Order: sequence, then structure tokens, then C-alpha cells
Amino acid sequence: MSSNTFPSLPLIDPETLEFEMNVDGLVSSGGLGGPAILPLSLAKMAQLTQAFPDKAFSGIGGIATFAHALNYFLLGCGTVQVCTAAMLDHAIGPNVIKNLIEGMQQFMEKRGYASLEDFRGIRKDRVVVQSQIRRPSAADYQGGYEPVEGYAMPTPERPVLA
Ligand SMILES: Cc1cc2nc3c(=O)[nH]c(=O)nc-3n(C[C@H](O)[C@H](O)[C@H](O)COP(=O)(O)O)c2cc1C
Repeated sequence: MSSNTFPSLPLIDPETLEFEMNVDGLVSSGGLGGPAILPLSLAKMAQLTQAFPDKAFSGIGGIATFAHALNYFLLGCGTVQVCTAAMLDHAIGPNVIKNLIEGMQQFMEKRGYASLEDFRGIRKDRVVVQSQIRRPSAADYQGGYEPVEGYAMPTPERPVLA
């Protein structure tokens, strides 16, 4: 199993300066699950499945759809589990589970897979140490100053920087 919840604090509202969730204004570090932890949990799982290739693993952390679960299967898990998404779906997750099963059936049909073993772990070896990742050539490298990406997205008031 790759993750429990991750220690976290609720955000502070910029208007009231109160924590978004609090009791009498007080908060304590609590477990964060759901979408925010999926990439964190996947990183842990990749470490585990690579270190212990002959062991069985069950993925958990951030799963709500089959696309999420697929990450864990492709990294080598034989099963997956869901907590937060199920709690947010009638407390036990009837729709989440139905969508997971349907998503898996459609995925396998489309690709002609007969069982999970046809695709379990097939992306495990793509996770490598940073030194094995090819670097962009000096000419392509923009040092984090890509003009139209992320927080640099152009707006009418602030068009693309040259
Ligand atoms: C309210 C709540 C209670 C939990 N209780 C346990 C527990 O008793 N034992 C445990 O190993 N994990 C417990 N977990 C962690 C979940 O099993 C799971 O690892 C974590 O929530 C991440 O998965 P998720 O993103 O699907 O929620 C709990 C999680 C939540 C939200």
C-alpha cells in the first residue's frame, strides 16, 4: 500500500484571516487524501514496486476514476483501494466503484487486453533517476521562463512576453 493521508493544514481565508475549517478558530494538522495526493502517492508506489518486484502491491491515494487507478496498475499494483472519493459518494462509493469497473472494462476492451496481467507494471521501468532523463539542449532550455505556460498564461491585459 503506497500512502496513508498526508499531514496538512486547511488554507487561511484572505478576507477573514480564519482557517477555512476550524473549531473555535483553532486547527491541528490533519490527514489529506483525495486528488492532491495522487502524484505523491504514485511516487511512493513506484519506489516500492521497483524495490520489491516480486511482492504484491495495492495502490491507494487519490483514486476516484479508472484513469487514476490505471496509474497504479501500470506501476505494478495488482489491486487498488479508495477512501476519500468513496466517502464523498454516499459514504461508501457506489458510483465511484461502478465507474471504476466500467472504466476498466472499456479500457481492456478497447486495447484487447484479456486480464490485468496484460498491462500490470508495463510503465514501472519508465521511472528513473533524474540523471537518466535527457536534458533539453542549451538552445531549447528557457530556464523556467516558458512564455505561455502555467502562471505565465497570456491574458488580454498581459499578452505573450517576447
Ligand atoms: C477519515 C479517514 C480515516 C482513515 N482511517 C484509516 C485507518 O484507520 N487505517 C489506515 O490505514 N488508513 C486510514 N485512512 C487512510 C486511507 O486508508 C487512505 O490511505 C488515504 O485516505 C488515502 O487514500 P484516498 O486518497 O483514497 O483517501 C483513513 C482516511 C480517512 C480520510
